[in-house]
Amino acid sequence: MTKRTIKPAEGKLGVLLPGMGAVTSTFIAGVELMKKGLAAPKGSLTQLQRIRLGKRYENRNPRISEFVPLAQLSNLVFGGWDIFEDSVWEAALKAGVLPETRLAPVKKELEAIVPMPAVFDQSYVVNLKARQQKTGKNKMDLAEQLMKDIELFKKSNGCDRLVMVWCGSTEVHMEKTAVHETLEAFEQGLRDDSKDIPSSSIYAYAAIKSGVPYVNGAPNLSADFPALVELAEKNGVPIAGKDFKTGQTMMKTVLAPAFKTRMLGLEGWYSTNILGNRDGEVLDDPGSFRSKEKTKTSVLDACLDTAKYPDLYGHYFHKVRIEYYPPRGDEKEGWDNIDITGWLDMPMQIKVNFLCRDSILAAPIVLDLVLFMDLAGRSGLKGIQEWLSFYFKAPQARPDLSPEHDLFVQHMKLTNTLRILMGEEVIDHSGLDYYDPELGTAGAAEAPKPYVKGEKAKA
Ligand SMILES: NC(=O)c1ccc[n+]([C@@H]2O[C@H](COP(=O)([O-])OP(=O)(O)OC[C@H]3O[C@@H](n4cnc5c(N)ncnc54)[C@H](O)[C@@H]3O)[C@@H](O)[C@H]2O)c1
Repeated sequence: MTKRTIKPAEGKLGVLLPGMGAVTSTFIAGVELMKKGLAAPKGSLTQLQRIRLGKRYENRNPRISEFVPLAQLSNLVFGGWDIFEDSVWEAALKAGVLPETRLAPVKKELEAIVPMPAVFDQSYVVNLKARQQKTGKNKMDLAEQLMKDIELFKKSNGCDRLVMVWCGSTEVHMEKTAVHETLEAFEQGLRDDSKDIPSSSIYAYAAIKSGVPYVNGAPNLSADFPALVELAEKNGVPIAGKDFKTGQTMMKTVLAPAFKTRMLGLEGWYSTNILGNRDGEVLDDPGSFRSKEKTKTSVLDACLDTAKYPDLYGHYFHKVRIEYYPPRGDEKEGWDNIDITGWLDMPMQIKVNFLCRDSILAAPIVLDLVLFMDLAGRSGLKGIQEWLSFYFKAPQARPDLSPEHDLFVQHMKLTNTLRILMGEEVIDHSGLDYYDPELGTAGAAEAPKPYVKGEKAKA
């Protein structure tokens, strides 16, 4: 397999974040602490995970960061937009994810990052009122103002490249309409101030138009429609989304594939959450909740392959609730009650009580997406990056393909994509070739070494 040409990860990488609340401030604080050697990057594949290369007996297991050329944390610089003027320091204190003592060593760095005025329209996020926002003659004008911000940020920070990750609020649920079908219709919609274009799509357009890889961390429509996919392909820009897969949904995409793999039936799955951060306040609005509900509920059907197994999964009851409960802050608590059936239809139950910290789970996902999207850009990958579906509740995929939701299959997609980029053998985990070389992996770089009796596996 030939290695792809990948441009080196030289120079500064600017990270632009529309929405500078709990997730953004936790992400930036973590990276700044890591730059000073004051924190460990737990939860981040790019920083910690090792990847197996070649045959099992070769014992080649470099860290992903040693295997693929990723930007160094020391080269990351941050900027963004918000409807509140709070610096990232103030936003972090208000979000209350980390105690002030933990943040103190990077106070200066966090105070220096102040959000630019946002593109915002309250009809898409009903429960928030803007304190700073751009005004313009139409949505195209607003997009052009964002493009100017992007250009200025790049210049004034001496960045070589940029990545944009939407960490803004969840907007009301919206369906695609004619305005989303083609780039031409979408650009006309921007000029006509179409109500079918939410703020997050204006940011996505501005990023892609500026050649900046774009990630959608919320369930918003944002870049998830043909017109922006067309623009991304035309401009050679990678895009990915949507909605970071962090707590309860991550557990769902671990457990549901386990039930299907064992051919156990599912009668019902009741999921509820309490959380008290600003995200929870936004989701208290039924329109924004509907967006979240859509991405949260879509995973089960996909993991269970419902259509193929109507007897096991044709009639299960699935309910997702999110309750805004201020005392809990960012420390979301999720409960799942799962009713499954086994041999002779006998019922069984599983209870999951996940006392998580939302932004602590989300921050390393933002970091990995920044570094992998930058890698994708330097590797010439464009359009939808389905290999990053590992990080999303509702992975964006080609319209004729149903996206993969099983966390471990998604992980295999991700690691095999890295192997392909670097010209390494794809690993299918069948293991057949260790016993009969003729059954080896299609496209294997070389025939596997035969087993010599008595030879022990190396640690
Ligand atoms: N924390 C998690 O585990 C998790 C998981 C999946 C998805 N998400 C999503 O990530 C997003 C951020 O979550 P959070 O906990 O940081 O929320 P948050 O409310 O703390 O931060 C969101 C910020 O976005 C700002 N904002 C809203 N509209 C904006 C606009 N048009 N332009 C610029 N800024 C805007 C808000 O003022 C707020 O400061 C939410 O959409 C959330 O649903 C979070």
